[in-house]
Amino acid sequence: MARVISTVLLLISTHMCLSAHVFTQDAPKFCKGLECPEFTTIQSSEGYEERQYSESKWVSTEIMSMSYDSASSQGFERLFNYIEGNNEQKQKIAMTAPVATRVIPGQGPACESNFTVSFFIPAEHSANPPAPSDSDVFFTTIPAHRAYVKSFGGFASQDDWIQAGAELGRALDALHSYDSSYYYTAGYDSPFTIFSRHNEVWFIAN
Ligand SMILES: *[C@@H]1O[C@H](CO)[C@@H](O)[C@H](O)[C@H]1NC(C)=O
Repeated sequence: MARVISTVLLLISTHMCLSAHVFTQDAPKFCKGLECPEFTTIQSSEGYEERQYSESKWVSTEIMSMSYDSASSQGFERLFNYIEGNNEQKQKIAMTAPVATRVIPGQGPACESNFTVSFFIPAEHSANPPAPSDSDVFFTTIPAHRAYVKSFGGFASQDDWIQAGAELGRALDALHSYDSSYYYTAGYDSPFTIFSRHNEVWFIAN
């Protein structure tokens, strides 16, 4: 009898562990019904979350600029045209979340930053996405990685992103090292969404 009970307990606890690792198969609420890259949460603390992402495929464009806002709107437009059919198959592709922008600060000769704006390619197209017609649009693969993530709400300005990044940096100690030469901003909402907007800064763990 005791053995049966302990087996049942073991099954229950195994089941609880498993469900903690697979809950993201149901997309998180902040994806708001759009397809978004899968991750598992390794740990959540006060100031940040640690996630494990699988490899993911994106359609991207690169812009050198002094301004986050102008780079992101220019990038968004190119990528939006791609998913609206500006591609070799004239195929429409569903909008996904987030719009992820890799920022390499101050890389250019006049201290411009290097922005790579990306849309996540839905699973349906990831094996064989239609080739972009715009030569400034290309595919990228983000390898499997761990990320430190700081979330915040509202309409994010360049200053908000920088502030969130600074807070994330302060929250991480020497045990949580990351590549400090770049970061990602991830915006989950269209400009027309007013409430419950969700933004994230990602640092890629070493
Ligand atoms: C932007 O950064 C990427 C990745 O490091 C690099 O391949 C690319 O050449 C950079 N662009 C410019 C214009 O420096």
